Amino acid sequence: MDSSWTFCVCALWIVANLCGTRANSTLHQQMLAKLRFPDYDSGVRPNWNGQAVVVEVDVLFISVGPVNEMEMTWSASFYLRQEWTDSRLVLDDAGTLVKLDGEHVAKLWRPDLFFSNNKQGRKHELTVPNHLVYINSSSGHILYSQRLTMVLNCEMDLIKFPHDNQTCDMKMESYSFTTKDLILRWSTARQATSLLPSANFPDFSIDGISTHDCGTTYAIGTFPCLLTTLQMSREIGFYIFQTYLPSILTVILSWASFWIDHEAVPARISVGLLTVLTITTQLSGSRAQLPRVPYIKAIDVWMSMNLVFVFSAYMEYAVVTVLSRKYKKSLTRLSLSDRRLTLETDQELVAIPPKEESSLPSTTTPNGTTTTSTTTTTATTPTPVSRQEPPPKAAPCVTPVLDSKDTGRKVDKISRGLFPLAYAIFNVIYWLYYLVLA
Ligand SMILES: *[C@@H]1O[C@H](CO)[C@@H](O)[C@H](O)[C@H]1NC(C)=O
Ligand SMILES: *[C@@H]1O[C@H](CO)[C@@H](O)[C@H](O)[C@H]1NC(C)=O
Repeated sequence: MDSSWTFCVCALWIVANLCGTRANSTLHQQMLAKLRFPDYDSGVRPNWNGQAVVVEVDVLFISVGPVNEMEMTWSASFYLRQEWTDSRLVLDDAGTLVKLDGEHVAKLWRPDLFFSNNKQGRKHELTVPNHLVYINSSSGHILYSQRLTMVLNCEMDLIKFPHDNQTCDMKMESYSFTTKDLILRWSTARQATSLLPSANFPDFSIDGISTHDCGTTYAIGTFPCLLTTLQMSREIGFYIFQTYLPSILTVILSWASFWIDHEAVPARISVGLLTVLTITTQLSGSRAQLPRVPYIKAIDVWMSMNLVFVFSAYMEYAVVTVLSRKYKKSLTRLSLSDRRLTLETDQELVAIPPKEESSLPSTTTPNGTTTTSTTTTTATTPTPVSRQEPPPKAAPCVTPVLDSKDTGRKVDKISRGLFPLAYAIFNVIYWLYYLVLA
């Protein structure tokens, strides 16, 4: 008896409680009740068979970047907000907002927006799915907000890299609804696209955001499409310190070679080689993060010209070496020929007398008789005839004296002024062209 009584009381209490909550159901519960299946079909758009549902979209960027030149993509994290009216969800109330979240959102009809130029994207699920729905209970006006992160394609023209500006798009389209059923429109109530103050690229500055309509016609029909375009200009600061300054210093270092004596072969060779290798490394380093585009980028022009400068400084040493070797050869030839000249004249003084004597076939003695023996009579006096003859090998020895200037040293001296001047001119042209003209 007792147990049955208590059971009855308990059952009554539970029923009473259930009835109480049902009677005292909140607006939220009423809304959930409205969203139950056959009364509400989330597969059917609002205003079925009537006018197209108008969806107003706005985007608030939380963070933008990084830009990946290699893959030609940019990333963005943003709140995507869509607003539309679903008259099926009108409750007879004084316009209070009903909030839906979690899995309840899935019960609602939502526009099937997709990003046609995205490569990757994700919804944020921590700690709960980052989305919300506010339903105005008197008008059925719905605000649906999501937090998304996207990696989007961006066709980049890198011909002026790193002095370039880029325009990158984000394109939103409806996947299945044509403009007959769904109209996408940039928000009129709020700014269509905006940036949080903290949303900034690390290496770009955002010059502006513009919004467009981009309805596209496919075989099935015209699909609604919204486009937002970001104009960005690259911050040069990073490249100044990463690329320009090191290569300028390397080129200047290569000129140090002109002040080093050309006799110091190891010093000049190592300065030349070191700078060429350094520039080559910098060149490949600058290309590492860039795609293999078929055109010449500004950074390529810069690095190649630096390589040319460093290389010609190295080649200048080769020229100096050849010239100074020539000079040295001429010097030694000159000194040799000088020595030979003096040697020869000395030799003549000594050697000619017996030669002259032997040429004499016979002499006559004062007493009239001719004698064939010559050894005793004319040995003491050398004939003056031989002294008047010019020395036969003296003439060609005079020509090397013309080479006597050390042209190698001169080339070094000229290079000290010429190379910095040429580099300065190149710099003026380069910076003027890419910063002002192009
Ligand atoms: C609903 O419950 C609250 C307290 O939770 C109470 O104040 C209110 O009167 C109840 N309303 C109805 C209609 O029962
Ligand atoms: C809900 O919609 C009604 C009618 O459009 C409007 O008057 C009311 O201000 C809205 N409520 C909120 C909280 O926006």
